[in-house]
Amino acid sequence: MKFFIDTANLDQIQEAQDLGILDGVTTNPSLMAKEGIAGESNVINHYKKICEIVDGDVSAEVISTNFKGIIKEGEALAKLHNNIVVKVPMIKDGVKAIKYFSDKGIKTNCTLIFSAGQALLAAKAGATYVSPFIGRLDDISTDGIDLIAQIREIYDNYMFGTEILAASVRHPMHIIQCAEIGADVMTGPLSAITALLNHPLTDSGLAKFLADFKKVNA
Ligand code: E4P
Repeated sequence: MKFFIDTANLDQIQEAQDLGILDGVTTNPSLMAKEGIAGESNVINHYKKICEIVDGDVSAEVISTNFKGIIKEGEALAKLHNNIVVKVPMIKDGVKAIKYFSDKGIKTNCTLIFSAGQALLAAKAGATYVSPFIGRLDDISTDGIDLIAQIREIYDNYMFGTEILAASVRHPMHIIQCAEIGADVMTGPLSAITALLNHPLTDSGLAKFLADFKKVNA
């Protein structure tokens, strides 16, 4: 399973990159706003900086919600770097735009997926990735992981090439469950990724090893 980090924070992207496990980055307008990135040229420069840090796909989301606007924005974003993936919302014009981008060889990530039907449409249109939001489904008492399993089964039935990018990951168990089910990619915050490092038996085991070493090497 590929690991993407879900942030526009350059320090966190660098930290995940330095860990040696990073395969890509996802951003969205809220994450860009959180970093205070506003204005076309600042947004463009920020995406370029992200692409310099990580050698993997970087999702950049369009703001337009009509076909013409999505195409214009998406083509400009795709020109910034080979690794840019145009992130398009799951709306009617978005699906049409994904088909257009797919025919042109431009990579896409269909975002805001909350049902298997939406994921099926995005795959039919030729999306490179679909992003089902598992955490936000959990928030409304619907099992987000069940949706990943459902999409996995549908894509496997028809051998769709679209990759399942489990998004809105909130904690390390989400990551484990996504890996068990066979999500192609997960995207989550740095905290969920680094939480995978931790186990109390690792801490106590290491403390004992170091103490025993010290005893005879003092
Ligand atoms: C997906 O690409 C989104 O950026 C993201 O995962 C949304 O997560 P949230 O529900 O934590 O905002």
